[in-house]
Amino acid sequence: MNHQTDMYTLANGVGIPCIGYGTWQTPDGDVAVRAVADAIEAGYRYIDTAQAYGNEESVGRGIRESGIDRRELFITTKLWNRNHSYELTMRSFEESMNKLGLDYLDLFLIHWPNPIAFRDRWQEANAESWKAMEELYEAGKIRAIGVSNFRPHHLEALLKNAKIAPAVNQIRLCPGETQDETVSWCRERGMVLEAYSPLGVGRIFEVPEMQDLAEKYGRSIAQICIRWSLQRGWLPLPKSVTPSRIRENLRVFDFELSEEDVQLIADLKGCVGYAKDPDQIGF
Ligand SMILES: NC(=O)c1ccc[n+]([C@@H]2O[C@H](COP(=O)([O-])OP(=O)(O)OC[C@H]3O[C@@H](n4cnc5c(N)ncnc54)[C@H](OP(=O)(O)O)[C@@H]3O)[C@@H](O)[C@H]2O)c1
Repeated sequence: MNHQTDMYTLANGVGIPCIGYGTWQTPDGDVAVRAVADAIEAGYRYIDTAQAYGNEESVGRGIRESGIDRRELFITTKLWNRNHSYELTMRSFEESMNKLGLDYLDLFLIHWPNPIAFRDRWQEANAESWKAMEELYEAGKIRAIGVSNFRPHHLEALLKNAKIAPAVNQIRLCPGETQDETVSWCRERGMVLEAYSPLGVGRIFEVPEMQDLAEKYGRSIAQICIRWSLQRGWLPLPKSVTPSRIRENLRVFDFELSEEDVQLIADLKGCVGYAKDPDQIGF
């Protein structure tokens, strides 16, 4: 397998690289510009950012500095929590595009289903944002639309008014956190599952069972995590600003974990914590 060509296919037929490059907590400015350019140079073709990360401008500069043809890249950003309405979705989408310096986006996600600002009317607020996203999709400004941190009840509510079903759900999936109910729900409906914090936000490196597995396979713990995510059928989004790690995290296509070890990693329940309850977040 070749990581540069390995793709999943979204429900609308759009191809999506099977590993993405994460940018949460990557500081705006030179660090983000350099990191994104390094990631593209290393072979990543999918960059994940968000309005809330505050680094869309630098991500855009990194993309341009890479010199790679825009059409070879897959760029995702996410609607921030305060922007849940038709008007604000439209306006903040334009702002994101200006910051990124792009004339089309590959994937736009609703970042969280139930922000504190809309807690008393989250279904309505999501329906309004989704309508705007559908229009942007139909106008050819976005190649696919999806959600993040949605559980089945949020998706069911969204689908009541949707013309287009979400192509993707981006959720926290890492060793010991497999969100089985949400994963099955999405899978049955043909949604691609993106795995965020695949390294447990850097906490996985202290887990003794993972150290044993790294030794067994002669691979790094990060590579075991990313390989595990792929073997579960997910799309991992590892983040690193360190050039050697950026490259290391892509070298996962020349080994395979046994079925027993895939299960063992799933069973390390809570080893790096669990996803936040999206109905209880304070932002
Ligand atoms: N939709 C959402 O709500 C949501 C939430 C969280 C994350 N995400 C997305 O998912 C991406 C990844 O998740 P994450 O940022 O939470 O964390 P992560 O990818 O699980 O872990 C990142 C941490 O691991 C370190 N690291 C990376 N590769 C390593 C390696 N090979 N060896 C040792 N350490 C390594 C990084 O350090 P250095 O950077 O210092 O190298 C960083 O501290 C985010 O960046 C974001 O794009 C989405």
